[in-house]
Amino acid sequence: MKSLEKVILLCQHSYPRHNFEGHILPVVKASLELCEKFRADPKIVEPAAYLHDIGRVLVPFVRAHEVTGYHISRAALTLTGYDPSDRKRICEAVLAHRGNEGKHKPKNIEEEIISNADAISQFEQWPYLLAIHYSSHGKNLASTKRWVAWKLKHSYDTKLTLPGSKERIEEQYKRALMELNANNIPISFVVIGRNHPQELNRCLSSIKAQCYSPSEVLYIDNSDNDESVNIARWHGACAYQPEKRGANHSRNYGARKSSGNIIVFIDGNDELEKNAAAEICQAVQSGTKIGALRWATNGSTLKDWLTQSILNMATYKAWPACFMTREAYEMSGGFDESGRIYVNDVAELAEKIKDTYPASRINAKIYGNMDGFKKHGYVKRIIEWLK
Ligand SMILES: [Fe+2]
Repeated sequence: MKSLEKVILLCQHSYPRHNFEGHILPVVKASLELCEKFRADPKIVEPAAYLHDIGRVLVPFVRAHEVTGYHISRAALTLTGYDPSDRKRICEAVLAHRGNEGKHKPKNIEEEIISNADAISQFEQWPYLLAIHYSSHGKNLASTKRWVAWKLKHSYDTKLTLPGSKERIEEQYKRALMELNANNIPISFVVIGRNHPQELNRCLSSIKAQCYSPSEVLYIDNSDNDESVNIARWHGACAYQPEKRGANHSRNYGARKSSGNIIVFIDGNDELEKNAAAEICQAVQSGTKIGALRWATNGSTLKDWLTQSILNMATYKAWPACFMTREAYEMSGGFDESGRIYVNDVAELAEKIKDTYPASRINAKIYGNMDGFKKHGYVKRIIEWLK
């Protein structure tokens, strides 16, 4: 049997099974990926990844587990037949695995890989961290969640030092923080059909990709186009085809069918940035009752860009999408279904309640459709919107 196989066998028998599978193996996997990326020495990286926490499990009462791990690794590597120079490098990688938070800082790429991979696995397997801390620290979920959030932030700041490490876990980190910090305010997305199946597909994909998952997505169809309804159902949305048509009727219909504490109204031809729901949730947690998103200045022409920039400055008049608490929606009496033509129905509703609930605009962007401007003329539309 080769030396590495003996080390793996030894680790399999030393770590509790949940720890081996929930932490050690993910660290090994991430280490080997980094090893290839940075052309490091796998002979050092792989055994060090297996052994890095051995001190913690075999001598649990000593705090500096990287130091006990160093000594245990030295004995283990001698017994399994590693040559002295590799043994020294592997043990030093174990000693430096706590990165900048430990006394022994990584001095070469192999040592840095172990400390980065150790941190990466925390982001990729954070529910494991949660479970293990919860069961070993008095089973207090609230304090466990705070601890995991702190641990992740600490690792983010001190251990993810290699280029690309932070980017790699960014998504998981955001998702973890939302889950750990959120009071879980349920958000309902009400998507109004615009009879553009392809754009609807992009719109619903952007809702699906949100870091903070909405509790429900409702699609209100505004046409006889079954393709849109099928697309909506394929994305897991609840699709409705009310007999009465019209954007405002669809919005009210969707609001009545929805159950979330926050309702987000979005047109089926718009796309959202992936942090939109998270920012909406945060805004509502800090007291906002009604608000809008910001236009992404992504226009392909100077005219688009200028229009989007001007509209971003007008809080009430130009709302490419909006959100409100159920309370604010109910107080407003809903969108006007009388058939009167408004330049912007959403702004009209916001005007009704602005004295009680001043509106705000969050930073998340919406990739709105500029077709209306192209069709009716930019200047004319902007003047109408700002009137
Ligand atoms: Fe570890």
